[in-house]
Amino acid sequence: MRWTRLIALLSLVVTATAAILTLVSATPARRRHVAATSTATKVKRGEYLATVMGCNDCHTPGVLFGAPDFSRRLSGSELGWKGPWGVTFARNITPDLETGIGKWSEAEIVKTLRTGQRPDGSVLLPPMPYQDFAILTDQDAFAIAAYLKSIPPIQHRSPDRIPPGQEATGSILVFPAPGAWDAPRTPPPAGDKK
Ligand code: HEC
Repeated sequence: MRWTRLIALLSLVVTATAAILTLVSATPARRRHVAATSTATKVKRGEYLATVMGCNDCHTPGVLFGAPDFSRRLSGSELGWKGPWGVTFARNITPDLETGIGKWSEAEIVKTLRTGQRPDGSVLLPPMPYQDFAILTDQDAFAIAAYLKSIPPIQHRSPDRIPPGQEATGSILVFPAPGAWDAPRTPPPAGDKK
C-alpha cells in the first residue's frame, strides 16, 4: 500500500516537472514566434503604406510611363525632374549597400522621410514630397522603414543630381519656374486673410 502511494506520488512529481520544463522551454519559442509575427505585421503595414503613398510612382522604373517593373521595385529611376532646383532623380531606396540605402538605420530612414534631411545632413530637393510625410506617426514611419529594409536589394545607381544651369541628357521632365497661382507665397500678400 505504502509502495503504491509512493510510486503514485513519484509519478505525479515526474509529470509535474516534465510539464513545467515543457512550459519553460516553450516560452522563448513562443516569444520568438510572437516577435516574428509582429515584425511580419509591421512589414506588411509598411508595404501597404509605401504603396498607397505613391513611393513606386517615382522610385520604381516604368510606373510613370504606365509600365511598372516591380521586379526592380524601388530601385530608383533615370527620369530627371528639372526645375529651379536643378535636376533630381528618384534614388534607389532598396537595401543595396553600395547603391541603395542599405547602410541607413531605420531611424535614419524615418528622419529622412519626415524632415527631408539625409543622414549626411544634405536636404532633399523636389519632387520628393517629404513635407507630406512629416505627419507620419512613429508606428507608420517605422513600418515603412522596416518594409524598405525587407525588400530585395537591387544594384542600380540613379544619376547624380545636376545643379541649376547645367545641361542634362536623357528623359527629363521640365518644370518651369512657378508663376501666378503656383508661385511661392512667402511673404504672403498684404491684406490676404485666407
Ligand atoms: C513625386 C516623386 C516621389 C515620390 C512620390 C517619392 N519620392 Fe522619394 N525621392 C524622389 C526624388 C526625386 C528623390 C531625390 C531627391 C534629391 O536628389 O534631392 C527622392 C529621394 C528619396 C530618399 C533619399 C534617398 C537617398 O539616397 O538620398 C528616400 C529615402 C526616399 N526618397 C523615400 C521615399 C519613400 C519611402 C516614398 C514614399 C513614402 C517616396 N520617397 C516617395 C521622388 C519621390
